[in-house]
Amino acid sequence: MFSPRGPSLRELVGQALSSVERGYDDLAPKFDHTPFRTPDGILDATVEALSGQGPFGTGLDVCCGTGAGLSVLRRLCRHQVTGVDFSAGMLEQARRADPGAVLVRADARALPFTDAFDLAVSFGALGHFLPAERPALFEGIHRALRPGGLFALAIGASPPPTSVAHWAGLGFDLAMLVRNTVVRPPFVMYYRTNPLRAVRQDLKAAGFTVDTVPLTALGRHRDGSPRFWLVLARKPVPGPSSRE
Ligand SMILES: C[S@@+](CC[C@H](N)C(=O)[O-])C[C@H]1O[C@@H](n2cnc3c(N)ncnc32)[C@H](O)[C@@H]1O
Repeated sequence: MFSPRGPSLRELVGQALSSVERGYDDLAPKFDHTPFRTPDGILDATVEALSGQGPFGTGLDVCCGTGAGLSVLRRLCRHQVTGVDFSAGMLEQARRADPGAVLVRADARALPFTDAFDLAVSFGALGHFLPAERPALFEGIHRALRPGGLFALAIGASPPPTSVAHWAGLGFDLAMLVRNTVVRPPFVMYYRTNPLRAVRQDLKAAGFTVDTVPLTALGRHRDGSPRFWLVLARKPVPGPSSRE
């Protein structure tokens, strides 16, 4: 899973004992050699699923890290692409990967954009937000989009309880809970706190209309359910009555 150019175990433990922002600052130069960078298969499946939804003008990658989602926006958007992240180290790597992108350092729980984008995407970052933080995150993305704009969120489906992945995720989350009870600052990263149903509910509460598309190219669990979904959250265009 980790290439020889990735971080050492000592560096990973150091990251896990920092804050999320500081941890990513430290990990940034080696991040693309870890399994935490969203794999190309997920990026390609997202482009494929979105290619019929466009055309798109401007695009925003929320929690862009080193720029995985920026590469998706480049393939779908005709105009400016923007990445936002709170780690200066990750943004520095994103700048090297895509010198033409606009990169903004900001907390995704308080996004500084209004009616600016036609497409927003986010990959691999939802686990960094507690359920109570999702409304602020989704409201900020809703505000950032133009009416009719689309937010696409790739999300792993909960594995069935009979699978190894289910118990591995549970074990990881319990370890993180213990770590965050005894160590400050907390490192928020949980696998099981963002189930699809709750995410859909919070997106609707933020004002989106929500659809989900299975990314079947990425495989299925043993019970036949898809491993990944693409959540398509659309910011409605106001009707004539709401303009009065
Ligand atoms: C696992 S990385 C994913 C990076 C990239 N999207 C990808 O898929 O490869 C998570 C990213 O989310 C960023 N992040 C986490 N919490 C954030 C927050 N509250 N505001 C902005 N960025 C945040 C981290 O700095 C990190 O770059």
